[in-house]
Amino acid sequence: MLFKYIAVFAVGISATLAQTIELGFPQNGDNFCPGQEVVVQAIQPESLASCIQVGIALAIDDCVNGSCPDPAEALGSVLYAGSWTPENHPPGGFYQNFTVTIPSYLAEGPAIFTLTHLCLLGAAPYPFLEYRNATVNIV
Ligand SMILES: *[C@@H]1O[C@H](CO)[C@@H](O)[C@H](O)[C@H]1NC(C)=O
Ligand SMILES: *[C@@H]1O[C@H](CO)[C@@H](O)[C@H](O)[C@H]1NC(C)=O
Ligand SMILES: *[C@@H]1O[C@H](CO)[C@@H](O)[C@H](O)[C@H]1NC(C)=O
Repeated sequence: MLFKYIAVFAVGISATLAQTIELGFPQNGDNFCPGQEVVVQAIQPESLASCIQVGIALAIDDCVNGSCPDPAEALGSVLYAGSWTPENHPPGGFYQNFTVTIPSYLAEGPAIFTLTHLCLLGAAPYPFLEYRNATVNIV
């Protein structure tokens, strides 16, 4: 019983401490035109836990009536899916830029840009899936 509690607690801690990815660009409130090329910046923070990289996906979806879809249920248009190999860019730290094109068919108004990240964490290891997002405007 006690062991079970400790094991659950430890998994919770490692998931919280794992600063495995950040979305440098885009940021909340950025404006994009349909068809525009955007340089997306995926940052690897200085991390305590090392995670074996599987890959990332970049996607954008319309927010309808002020409500943005939950990325775990719908990502929208997938702009990139594949490997993530961040490199050191002093003094900017470790990151990788991806040039993507905002789909021409996106409706004007708010849209949610989602960075999905999968890596393998810990000694066992276990799959670690996380999302970062930015609420942008299609103008
Ligand atoms: C990567 O993208 C960010 C944000 O758009 C930009 O500030 C940075 O200069 C880019 N880095 C490289 C190496 O192109
Ligand atoms: C958005 O709101 C309008 C007006 O309230 C409603 O008619 C429409 O069905 C809503 N659309 C969705 C997808 O919820
Ligand atoms: C976007 O990210 C923020 C902060 O990380 C989170 O609170 C919010 O629920 C996310 N939005 C969606 C639609 O998942």
